[in-house]
Amino acid sequence: MKELEMMYEGKAKKVFKTEDDDRLIVAYKDDATAFNGLKKGTIVGKGIVNNRMSNYLCKILEEKGIPTHYVEELDERRTVVKKVEIVPLEVIIRNKAAGSFSKRLGVPEGTELKCSTLEFSYKNDDLGDPLINSYMALALGLATKEEIDTISEMAFKINAILQEVFRNIGIELIDFKLEFGRYHGQIILADEISPDTCRYWDIETHDHLDKDRFRRDLGDAEGAYQEVYRRLGLDR
Ligand code: C5P
Repeated sequence: MKELEMMYEGKAKKVFKTEDDDRLIVAYKDDATAFNGLKKGTIVGKGIVNNRMSNYLCKILEEKGIPTHYVEELDERRTVVKKVEIVPLEVIIRNKAAGSFSKRLGVPEGTELKCSTLEFSYKNDDLGDPLINSYMALALGLATKEEIDTISEMAFKINAILQEVFRNIGIELIDFKLEFGRYHGQIILADEISPDTCRYWDIETHDHLDKDRFRRDLGDAEGAYQEVYRRLGLDR
């Protein structure tokens, strides 16, 4: 499938139209941003890791009955995906306290939670993606009640599947962000799952193997991305 004009350039990806109205091509960049674009940098090789890791995980999720946007990997940085109407919600699942949850609620990072939890943010860069609840999402008309229920149920299922995948390679899945889209009347998973969008902690050492290495200046972000890629067997 051939790339036509660029439709959108985001912080970490470019999206191109194709001859097929139902398909887009996503091209992953090495650019890294944090804090709503205030911090900018590069993580060499990140685009390849995120592209191939997201595709690998989408294929596992599809096998387990989760519909995703994945169609075909074109090369190490580019993938054909289904064209969706994005639901303007960021869906965050947490298995342990970290990041904004820890800060907002005064819970030390790494604290066990009584159960996994789900948050919604309103996807809006100008507002800094504010935290909202499902009633607010309904009131703003961001999604229907049925869509919110489907998204929540799918997000917890995805969590169970991903936790197992990562546990098997010695990584604890602390939290992650998902986005969903509408595709021919169906809700499907419609964004990357990568070290940019997840917190991965080594089970033994608690080393951070994700974008927090960049956000928090912990050093060797490249090495951390490569480590997860290698443990998943994607370097072979
Ligand atoms: O910052 P916070 O603790 O809310 O992030 C929770 C999870 O969601 C982290 O894994 C982070 O990488 C991800 N996230 C994201 N994109 C955002 C906000 C959070 O991928 N805009």
